[in-house]
Amino acid sequence: MKAAVVTAYGTAPRYLEFPGPKPAGEHEIVVEVLAAGLHPRVRMQADGSHYTSAGSGLPLVPGIDGVGRDADGRLWYFMSLNGTYGSMAERAVIDTRHSVILPAHADPLTIAATLNCVIASWLALTRRVTLRPGQNVLVLGATGGTGRMAVQVARRLGADQVVAVGRDPERLAALPGATATALTGDAETIARTGTEIDIVLDFLWAEPAAKAIAAMVSNRADPTRPLTWVNLGEMAGPRATLPASALRSTKLHVLGSGQGSLASTTMTTEIPAVAAAIADGAYAVEPDPVPLHDVEHAWSLPADSSKRIVIHRL
Ligand SMILES: NC(=O)c1ccc[n+]([C@@H]2O[C@H](COP(=O)([O-])OP(=O)(O)OC[C@H]3O[C@@H](n4cnc5c(N)ncnc54)[C@H](OP(=O)(O)O)[C@@H]3O)[C@@H](O)[C@H]2O)c1
Repeated sequence: MKAAVVTAYGTAPRYLEFPGPKPAGEHEIVVEVLAAGLHPRVRMQADGSHYTSAGSGLPLVPGIDGVGRDADGRLWYFMSLNGTYGSMAERAVIDTRHSVILPAHADPLTIAATLNCVIASWLALTRRVTLRPGQNVLVLGATGGTGRMAVQVARRLGADQVVAVGRDPERLAALPGATATALTGDAETIARTGTEIDIVLDFLWAEPAAKAIAAMVSNRADPTRPLTWVNLGEMAGPRATLPASALRSTKLHVLGSGQGSLASTTMTTEIPAVAAAIADGAYAVEPDPVPLHDVEHAWSLPADSSKRIVIHRL
């Protein structure tokens, strides 16, 4: 079959022949892949920098999820957590226990662009912590695909205040669901808007996270009110320096949410509700479709967090 194939880390995948994956066991079936999102996580898989990359060899087909059609014409959303056979190929083997049948009216491009972005905060707020109605959430990296969805997910799960922090004032101002905004480096505004935040969803880490933690812990209305910091990504860098005093002077809890801290069965349990909500129009990240045969070009397109590149065969 044809697939996007990474033969050397640090180079874009090329449209090449690749052996088709073979189903093994009663739960695996082959689907024709229709659409697969080019998420930041997929770029990390393809350049070998994701924490799950250790041990997975080359060549590999990138892609961590997608929408496919089975021999009976049913649409599936599936996750490809196997590091070698990803979703950016003509065909994929899917494990039906980690996949869900989509409503017939679901748009493959929109599902492929949106589901990964929504499920991130959905899982974080329901499975890594439990957002209680009336609590307040701050989203760091709120203008990206996952950040924008996180603002909306938090509101739908009952958050009262949702502070959106990002680096583009115009896009922040246009964010649906945000009750307040702050620029990423504006410690004063983050401190002021963060006095009664309960949960932070952090897609950036590194300096923006360190600065926001310092600003928020120094200005808590009640330092004994728990502040739960959930890291989901590292768009600004993989390391942050935290002063020890931040952990002693407030009730700061730092944890992460992602593959590993969440079991794949936990992730799949939540997918049907999220997929149905997307199919019904509750959430949408705009897809930027690129045909599979142009995958190499897709890798060179400038980063644009307002939409999501989707590799497709429609
Ligand atoms: N753990 C999980 O379950 C999970 C699931 C999905 C995604 N993620 C992770 O979440 C992160 C964001 O993903 P995404 O889909 O939102 O990506 P995206 O759509 O490309 O958005 C990236 C976001 O990061 C911001 N950004 C990039 N570089 C920055 C920097 N140096 N300083 C400050 N802000 C910066 C962007 O700001 P602009 O909008 O101004 O460009 C944008 O808000 C990634 O690390 C991804 O791997 C995690």
